[in-house]
Amino acid sequence: MREEEGLRIQKIENGTVIDHITAGYALDVLRILNIDGKDGHVVSIAMNVRSGKMGKKDIVKIENRELRQQEVDKIALLAPRATINIIRGYSVAQKTRVKLPEVIRDIIRCDNPVCISNAKEPVEPKFYVVGTSPLLLRCHYCGREMGREEVLKQFSG
Ligand code: CTP
Ligand code: ZN
Repeated sequence: MREEEGLRIQKIENGTVIDHITAGYALDVLRILNIDGKDGHVVSIAMNVRSGKMGKKDIVKIENRELRQQEVDKIALLAPRATINIIRGYSVAQKTRVKLPEVIRDIIRCDNPVCISNAKEPVEPKFYVVGTSPLLLRCHYCGREMGREEVLKQFSG
């Protein structure tokens, strides 16, 4: 399995490998990270490759860029089983599994324009994760439900 995958995308020397992404979600993961190729980093994507654990999965490799924790947290919204591998000198220096918390306090804002969290009050957004596949979030203040599309919209452009 490894060898087969290795033939598809080369090992990288330095950077981040986002592995075990829900099959078909690699482009959404890049979108939520605001990576569009315009900053010059080498990015490789494999979609729907065979995985022992998951059947099929997507993989994204970003060279010479280590993701920050806040970026890793965003990935959990779309790919709750993803693993983040920090690569240094061709070896895996750090491997972490993303974690989707039950309550999300930053990262996204409520879609409801009249929600108290969108007023000038110092009220920080707060969502409950009521579903993961498909993603479903519910605003603590107004009850507005938001899914994958609504979440992704906040990260494009
Ligand atoms: N990888 C890479 N370049 C490297 C080292 C690793 O692109 N220099 C990739 C591997 O291809 C794999 C991921 O990073 O997709 C994790 O590598 P590794 O931990 O060696 O693989 P596994 O043990 O199979 O990982 P897991 O247990 O998380 O499935
Ligand atoms: Zn709200």
